Amino acid sequence: MVKISPSILSADFANLERDIQRISTADYVHVDVMDGMFVPNITIGIPVVKAIRPVTALPLDVHLMIVQPGRYVRQFCEAGADLVTMHVEADTEENLRAAIDAVHSAGKRAGVVVKPGTSAEAVRPYIRDVELVLVMTVEPGFGGQSFMADQMGKVRAVREMIDAFNPACELEVDGGVGPDTFRACIDAGANVLVAGSAVYGAEDIPARIRLLRG
Ligand code: DX5
Ligand code: ZN
Repeated sequence: MVKISPSILSADFANLERDIQRISTADYVHVDVMDGMFVPNITIGIPVVKAIRPVTALPLDVHLMIVQPGRYVRQFCEAGADLVTMHVEADTEENLRAAIDAVHSAGKRAGVVVKPGTSAEAVRPYIRDVELVLVMTVEPGFGGQSFMADQMGKVRAVREMIDAFNPACELEVDGGVGPDTFRACIDAGANVLVAGSAVYGAEDIPARIRLLRG
């Protein structure tokens, strides 16, 4: 069963409650947190996670595009994140392990993310310890970019790793996923699809979510 995690980066921030209710048939709410350092953009943070927590029953899938994410994971968990993902490029392995442990101590799920230029091998040290791996299919920083089909080999490699070492782990893709690209992601082994512009740009959002599930 493929799950859909619409990114609220493409929502209307002046009407966030309404736009989160519009995706109530999805499986997660994807929250893109950017710090202007790890990526060249600044979006939303802990107070917004806290504010949206009561307006949806869906789990909050919080994608941290920030340097040294361990500094803030506890606060994101307390604000209502259900799943916290952090980039392997954002800190040392030792610090990321501590951050993953902190998420688990808060009773939440943890995941690691790889940018397009980072290999599948970078995920291997964490594979037994996370509930999700996210493979970026655009350079993180902005919504509405073109899907990088050349990342599908990496998705397949991570799928093999998951099947071998941690079959319950989810495999998510993020960036440029829409009606023309979702099938390649599913075929490569992804089971969670993030979609921002493809969901919020649709005339009929529930129909678009159904379509992307395959
Ligand atoms: C990019 C973000 C994505 C983005 C996806 O840095 O991580 O979640 O919002 O947007 P679309 O689906 O429009 O590429
Ligand atoms: Zn994201």
